[in-house]
Amino acid sequence: MIDKYKKRFRGTIEVPGDKSITHRAVMLGSLSKGTTTIYRPLISDDILMTIDSMKQLGVSIELIDEKIVIKSNGVESLREPSTILYTGNSGTTTRLLTGVIAGLNFNATINGDETIQKRPMQRIKTPLELMGASIELTRENFPPINIKRKSLNGITYHMPIASAQVKSAIIFAALGAKGPTRIIEKDISRDHTERMLEDFGANIHTDGNTITVHPGYNLLGKEVAVPGDISSAAFLMVLAAIIPGSDITIENVSLNKTRDGIITVFKMIGADIKVLERNNAGEPYGDIRVKYKENLKPFIIDGPLIPKLIDEIPILTVLGLFTNGKSIIRDAHELRVKETDRILAVTRELEKFGADFNIYDDGFEILENQNLQKANEQLKSYSDHRIIMMLIIMTIKMNQRLNIDDTSHLNVSYPNILKDIESLEKEVDYE
Ligand code: S3P
Repeated sequence: MIDKYKKRFRGTIEVPGDKSITHRAVMLGSLSKGTTTIYRPLISDDILMTIDSMKQLGVSIELIDEKIVIKSNGVESLREPSTILYTGNSGTTTRLLTGVIAGLNFNATINGDETIQKRPMQRIKTPLELMGASIELTRENFPPINIKRKSLNGITYHMPIASAQVKSAIIFAALGAKGPTRIIEKDISRDHTERMLEDFGANIHTDGNTITVHPGYNLLGKEVAVPGDISSAAFLMVLAAIIPGSDITIENVSLNKTRDGIITVFKMIGADIKVLERNNAGEPYGDIRVKYKENLKPFIIDGPLIPKLIDEIPILTVLGLFTNGKSIIRDAHELRVKETDRILAVTRELEKFGADFNIYDDGFEILENQNLQKANEQLKSYSDHRIIMMLIIMTIKMNQRLNIDDTSHLNVSYPNILKDIESLEKEVDYE
């Protein structure tokens, strides 16, 4: 059979460091005594927001040879910020930092760009105020966030939604509270904060769905090696799965069980995927190899699988368009409050290629027998890095040039994605 597409993508590559892990390493290094060196961190706009915020608390942070080097004398040496802490487009910085500031007993104001000013913050205000914090929001739910110095008590909190940002904000605040805090999750969200805090010396334990945090900042600086971000690898995995002749290996990617839902989906649809775990102490990581295969089956994604792949849903939707049958994504209401309303952005933009969906409040169905064509109008980024990257992969598959209003938000998590894709591109000889 002659390949229908001019290009195929082959080779071995590493993607940038994990965004969630890098944010946490910068924050924990800042709260710890001594030097913390972060190897292979993500250096991106979002991470710079966390670095700048921690610098404003008096921490010395330098970028040396692509490493982040943090020097801190621990929490006693930190000071209240004298200006607003600006968090740009970063939800993780905004929510985790609110917990850090509340725990430190500081006054501070946190604000970000116009996308952040539309992201819900009541979800962190509720548990933090139960602990005794004073958190003032704008229009009851949004940044700017005003935190007033108050002493905190430990609480028991049943998480109403699966959110690692909310969970982590509570954990950071719990370090500065009187008495232990217990957090009970219904569906388990990413656990990087818990793992890393334990490594830095905190008294924190996880038992099934319950996390117990004992207060105290007896943290010591350390070396942290950041694995590649599976949420960035996801774009290359789908590229390999849908472009005939492709075969891509992504090395040293995070294989944390709370983040590996995309691997479950690839197996569910019968994709050609091989996973080689290289390390399972601390943060597990390894290599993922994906080869193109015909006749992929459709998928159903819902329930506890959702938090394990929440950031991959835009690109998994592209994958769903090229399976044989109707794929379903439900229980994903959280997509409505990401960098943009991703249910709306994903479906609207892919509809420009003729894609057909049934849309619900908490997800959508990707209908059978798609009649896809080249996009008939300019694409929109919605100031959302994962929407832009989804559209990059979709336009490659449709053999089209990328015509989009703005690509600047690629700097949020994967600044070099276009170069990386180019490095994997191999022309196909048709003869
Ligand atoms: C993140 C948690 C998730 C995820 C986000 C990063 C984190 O958000 O979507 O990209 O680093 O804790 P929620 O906590 O809102 O689910």
